[in-house]
Amino acid sequence: MDRNLFSSSIGKKVIVAVSGAFLMSFLIVHLAINLTLIIDDTGLLFNSAAHFMATNPIIKIVEPILALGFAIHILYTIILTLQNMRSRPVRYARQDLSGASSWASRNMFILGGLVLTFLVMHLFHFFIKMKYTGDPLLDVKVMIDGELVKNGYLLVSSFFKDFLVYSIIYIVGAIFLGLHLVHGFWSAFQSLGLCNKIWLSRLQTVAVVFAAIMALGFSIIPIYFIIFF
Ligand code: HEM
Repeated sequence: MDRNLFSSSIGKKVIVAVSGAFLMSFLIVHLAINLTLIIDDTGLLFNSAAHFMATNPIIKIVEPILALGFAIHILYTIILTLQNMRSRPVRYARQDLSGASSWASRNMFILGGLVLTFLVMHLFHFFIKMKYTGDPLLDVKVMIDGELVKNGYLLVSSFFKDFLVYSIIYIVGAIFLGLHLVHGFWSAFQSLGLCNKIWLSRLQTVAVVFAAIMALGFSIIPIYFIIFF
């Protein structure tokens, strides 16, 4: 048996779990910042947070690590899935201790693919404009801490106000993300050997709560702009 962390099956699961946990911590921060979009209609809170993220030296180091986290998570899930398909050509119902998450657990690869599709599209909407290409809406500068900075709030809020179809896609994307997380959350603990049977059922409950907060949290932003603007 191959005991190498990168090539053994357990090792690959650990890598998927650790990178997944890292991505979940990013999601918590990302959601917290994005919720300022609906807390403060002036955009001051969101623009201040975005400006802080864009200028903070620690965030500059974290950004490439985040990209690497996504790459590793995706690469190793693909490798594990192909490996499973080769060793188990006939599909059978995987045993799952939680009835609620069994559909999600059987469809993790597809759900992950849908979240990735959403993510690529999403990066083109905001990240690439804010970081590289620019946008006329970003040129309407705002004053933050005595400095004129890009108006990210105007870009994001106008996007949801003007494009109903994209707002709906964001809501659907948040639901896919929630379904991916409902299994991914507790499964990460299991892969790391951090839970026994009692803790597993507790973690499955926490997973449902966490996934629901993420799905509702991310979808409430486009919903807010659809309803109020
Ligand atoms: C309503 C939902 C969302 C809004 C309004 C939103 C907003 C944004 C904005 C404005 C940026 C650019 C930040 C900057 O460059 O300063 C960004 C980047 C990003 N978003 Fe989102 N996002 C949402 C949902 C999501 C979801 C569900 C995911 C993950 C599946 C995600 C993953 C990312 C990533 C990886 C980046 C690039 C890294 C970064 O700039 O922090 N976002 N998002």
